[in-house]
Amino acid sequence: METQIVSRSRGWLERAKKYIEEGEVVAFHTETVYGLGANALSDEAVLKIFELKGRPADNPLIVHVHRDYDISPLIDGEPPYAAALRRAFLPGPLTMVYPSTGKVSKYVSCGLDTLAIRVPSSPTAQEFLKCVDLPIAAPSANLSKHVSPVTARHVFDDFNGKIPLILDGGACSGGIESTVLDCTGNIPQILRQGLVTQEMIASVAGDCGVYQPQRGERPRSPGMAYKHYSPRCRTAFFRENELEAAVACYEEAERAGETPCFLCESEVCAALSSFRTLDLGGTGETMARRLYDLLRKGERAATLLIGVEPREKGGVMAGVLNRMHRAFGVEHGTEET
Ligand code: TXA
Ligand code: MG
Repeated sequence: METQIVSRSRGWLERAKKYIEEGEVVAFHTETVYGLGANALSDEAVLKIFELKGRPADNPLIVHVHRDYDISPLIDGEPPYAAALRRAFLPGPLTMVYPSTGKVSKYVSCGLDTLAIRVPSSPTAQEFLKCVDLPIAAPSANLSKHVSPVTARHVFDDFNGKIPLILDGGACSGGIESTVLDCTGNIPQILRQGLVTQEMIASVAGDCGVYQPQRGERPRSPGMAYKHYSPRCRTAFFRENELEAAVACYEEAERAGETPCFLCESEVCAALSSFRTLDLGGTGETMARRLYDLLRKGERAATLLIGVEPREKGGVMAGVLNRMHRAFGVEHGTEET
C-alpha cells in the first residue's frame, strides 16, 4: 500500500472520509500529537488500529468527535462539573472519561465500562471529524512504545506502506498528549497529565485529584502501565543536581566509541556548549512542543541520549516530566509491563 501525505487541497477530506467508510485507518493532525483514526462504531476498523500499532489489547482508545457532535448517546450522563469543564476547555487538549452506554465498538474501551472522549481543536482535526461525521477512535500515530508523532513525517516513518493517508496539518503546537480526566466520580481525577493542568481544572471544577496507582494495582488508565515514548537508542537520565555525573557519563561513552548527546533545558545546554546537545527550551510549553521531535532526532543522531531533568516542576511541566521519565525508563509510580 502506498502511504500519501496530503495537506489542505481540494477533496482531501473526502478522500479521508472514503477510507474511513471502507474501514481503513487514516492518520490526522491534532493540536497535541498526530492520531491514527478509524470508525469507532466498527469492530474490524478498531481492531485494525491495535494490529497496526502492535498495541496491547488491554489499552483502551480515545474517541474523537467534532465540536457539534452529540455525545449524549455515547455516555451515561455527566456530573455538573464535567459540563462546566467542557465549556471551559473544549475543543482542546482535554480527554474526558465518562460511564459508557456501550454504543461504540467494544474494542474501543477494552472491556472497561467507561469511554474516553476528546474534542481536538486543530482545524485539520475539526474539519476531518465534521466531514466523516462519525466518532473516530484514535491513539497516537506511533508504533506501540515508540515516541509519539508531532509531524506528518514522524507518522510516515512508523507507518509507511501500512496506511493509505496522512492528513498533514503541520507541526503539533501542543506536543504532548491530552490530559486524561476521569469524570465518573464526585470530583474529577487526572489519569494522565497534559497541557490542561490540575490547577486549570480545579479553577473550574472546584477540586481536582491526580490518580496515583498503587503498586500491583491495575492502573485505571491502562496505558500508563507501559513503557512508552522511548527513543530507539540507549538512554541515561540524571536529576538537575547531577550534572557532573551526567558529564562523566557523556565522556565515558565517548571514550568507548559511542556518540552521546544531551537532551536538556536551554540554560543547561548553554553550560554544556562544548558537548553535543538538543535544546528543550526554557518554558513548560516550549519543552512540551519540542520533546518528541527531539527524542526522534536524538535516536537518529546519537547512540546514547542523556536526559537531564529540567528544574521547573509545576503546571505543564508535570506532563512533560511524566513523558521524560517514561521515555528514559525512570520509574513513574507504575510497574512497567
Ligand atoms: O492527545 C491525545 O490524547 C492523542 C491524540 C491523537 O488525540 N491520543 C492519545 O491516545 O494519546 P493514546 O491511545 O496514545 O492514549 C490514550 C490514553 C491511554 O493512556 C489510555 O489508557 C487512556 O487514554 N484511556 C483511554 N480510554 C480510557 C478509559 N475508558 N478509561 C481510562 N483511561 C482511558
Ligand atoms: Mg500513545
